[in-house]
Amino acid sequence: MSLKGRDIISIRDLSREEIEEVIKASRRMLPYAEGTKAGHQLDGHVLTLAFFEPSTRTRLSFETAMARLGGRCVTIADAGTSSLSKGETLYDTIRVLSAYGDAIVLRHPNEGAARLAAQASNKPVLNAGDGAGQHPTQTLLDLATMQEAVGTLSGLKVVLLGDLKYGRTVHSLAHALALFGAELVLSSPPSLKLPDEVREHLDEMGAKVTEEGQLHRAIRDADVLYVTRIQRERFGDEAEYARVAGSYRIDRAVLAGAKPRLVVLHPLPRTAEIAPEIDDTPHAAYFRQVFLGVPVRMALLCLVLTGKAQ
Ligand code: CP
Repeated sequence: MSLKGRDIISIRDLSREEIEEVIKASRRMLPYAEGTKAGHQLDGHVLTLAFFEPSTRTRLSFETAMARLGGRCVTIADAGTSSLSKGETLYDTIRVLSAYGDAIVLRHPNEGAARLAAQASNKPVLNAGDGAGQHPTQTLLDLATMQEAVGTLSGLKVVLLGDLKYGRTVHSLAHALALFGAELVLSSPPSLKLPDEVREHLDEMGAKVTEEGQLHRAIRDADVLYVTRIQRERFGDEAEYARVAGSYRIDRAVLAGAKPRLVVLHPLPRTAEIAPEIDDTPHAAYFRQVFLGVPVRMALLCLVLTGKAQ
């Protein structure tokens, strides 16, 4: 197995063994991510980031990962500051970027944009979120957080809650969890169910999937509750968003019926779907999840750029 030079467009591009390798390597990266050890694994490497949709965690954790391992970044943080605003195509933009750095990290509002970018680029492309499509590097850190918090990725019962229609993190994560044999419980407003293509794919994988609209029933014997924000920016119609906004919220009363060791994750940003009162409970792992984005992306960058992650 080698990830060197590979595009990471969809989590489906990675085998279970490759995912495990990234997670294992991310543990070796912890002292570098914490800043207690200086890293030089990526000395001389340049990462190009092209973010055509807002981001806090994904962009800054990639930049942090590079900086702490001795690499450098060149970044387009906003489409308006690039020549896309003068009418340059995405294809040409990516072709240009591939002349500069050693790999490209792309976030784009259109599903399929990262796959197109991979065709335009002769350098590896890492998908940092393409519309309502995929967010594979988020899945890697989600799994790393579950592994750390629960101690295993085997035999988990995971509730996927919220906007399963537009939530790209869920589309990636559901596949990966199925690879690890997890039992999935889908809980969403009726209009925000998992897309048919993703559901059929899980069925083809032989995944154990159920739907449960009642939150208290969904979480009763779950190991992990993965909460998502309703992706307001993907709705064509504000009235449609207003109909589902605020339709679920995790607070202490909701978690009273959960296992004491239930782990609550969220890719963030959150709006109101997790009450701040949960932050200081043993359930909350979403800020640890944010931090683990750094060692996981360190591991992935090392493997893609150099073929090793020590
Ligand atoms: N989780 C995530 O993708 O966050 P950002 O949108 O802030 O990058």
